[in-house]
Amino acid sequence: MDKSRRAFSLGSLVASASVMMGGEALADVTGYKLSGKPEAFVKKMGIKYPIVQAVIGGSTPDLAAAVSNAGGMGGIGMSWSPEQEVRDYVKATRSLTKAPFAIGYVLTFGAGTLPAALDAGAPVIQFSFGTPDKKQVSMIRAAGAKFGMQVSTADGVKQALDVGADYISLQGQEAGGHVQAQGSWRDNLPRALETAGKTPLLVAGGLSTGKDLREVLLMGVSGGVFGTRFAATKEYPSHPEYKQRMINARSSDTALTVCFDGGWPGALHRVLRNPTLDAWEAAGAQWAGLRPGEGDVVGTIGDMKFARYSLFPAFVVTQGKPQEMAMYAGQGIGAIRDIPKAGEIVERIWSECVGLTV
Ligand SMILES: Cc1cc2nc3c(=O)[nH]c(=O)nc-3n(C[C@H](O)[C@H](O)[C@H](O)COP(=O)(O)O)c2cc1C
Repeated sequence: MDKSRRAFSLGSLVASASVMMGGEALADVTGYKLSGKPEAFVKKMGIKYPIVQAVIGGSTPDLAAAVSNAGGMGGIGMSWSPEQEVRDYVKATRSLTKAPFAIGYVLTFGAGTLPAALDAGAPVIQFSFGTPDKKQVSMIRAAGAKFGMQVSTADGVKQALDVGADYISLQGQEAGGHVQAQGSWRDNLPRALETAGKTPLLVAGGLSTGKDLREVLLMGVSGGVFGTRFAATKEYPSHPEYKQRMINARSSDTALTVCFDGGWPGALHRVLRNPTLDAWEAAGAQWAGLRPGEGDVVGTIGDMKFARYSLFPAFVVTQGKPQEMAMYAGQGIGAIRDIPKAGEIVERIWSECVGLTV
C-alpha cells in the first residue's frame, strides 16, 4: 500500500472537529480528519473538502457560491461570456462567498476575458483544452490567484507542471460535456500520478457519489471533480425537461459523440441520447452540411435562435424543444436520482465518502 493510501485509510480512524480553511478552523460536518494528499490539496486551495465542482458552462454565481460555502470549490465556465458578464459573475460570486471558486476557460476559444476576471477578483482560474501561455500565467500570479488545468494524459500532466499549475485534473472519457480524453482516466491514472509527484492530481469523469470519491482518494488522487452531479442541482439553470431526463437516465443512456458540434466543429462530447442524436446516427452520422433537420430551430431565448446541432443546451429560459438539444451528462448519471441544492450535495458526498452514510 503506498504512503498516501495508508494516510487516507488511517485518517478515517482519527476524529477531529476541524480542518483549516484560510487560516481559520472550521467545523467539519463529519468530524473527519483529512490526511495525506487530500489534506495537502484542501490546505493549498483554502477549501474544506477535496470536492471540486467542474467549471460547467451555464453555471451561475449562486451555484458556485453554494458549493464553495458548503466546503467544496465551486466554479463557473465563462468561455462563451462577454467581458461585462465575466466581471458581474465574479463580483456576484464574491459577494456570496468568502471561499475560493474557479472561473473556467476552454482554451480552444482563448481566454480574452482573463484580465477582467482577475481584475474583478477571481481567486482561481481553471483551464481546459490547452495550456496557458507565459503571459496568462504571469497575469494570474500578479493578481495573487491560483490556477488549475484539466488534462487527459500523463503528457498533459507534464505540460501542466511545466507552467506551474497549482492542481491538475485528469479527465477521462466517462465525463459529461466536452471531453478532451481519448480513454478512461483509469488507464491514464498510474502514469499521471507518477508524473504529478507532489502537485495535487484530481480525477474528472463519471464521479457522482461519496463512494466514487472514496474510491479515487484511495487510488492516491487528491480530490474529485464533479460536473454532472452539480448540473443536477436546483441552482444550475438548465431546462426542467433536461433535469427530468437526468433523473431518469441510466449510464448506458449517454453517448460519446460529435453530433452537437455546432459552434465547435468536431469536438467530442458526452450527452444523453435524444431524437436528434438517434436520427443523426440513423442517417449515417454525417458531418455538418449532410445532417437531417440541420436548419431546424429547436430553441430560442428572446431573439437568439439555436439550430438543431448547436452545442448549447436548453436553459430554463429556452423556448422550444429542450429534449432535442444537447443534454450533457457523464457516465455517473445512473447514480443521480434527485435535484437537490448544491450545498446538500457537497455534504452528502463527503458524509458518504467518509462512511457516515451509504
Ligand atoms: C453540463 C456540463 C457542462 C460542461 N461545461 C464545461 C465547460 O464549459 N468547460 C469545461 O472545461 N468543461 C465543461 N464540462 C466538463 C467538465 O469540466 C468535467 O470534465 C466533467 O463534468 C467531469 O465529468 P462528470 O460530468 O461525469 O462529472 C461540462 C460538463 C457538463 C456535465
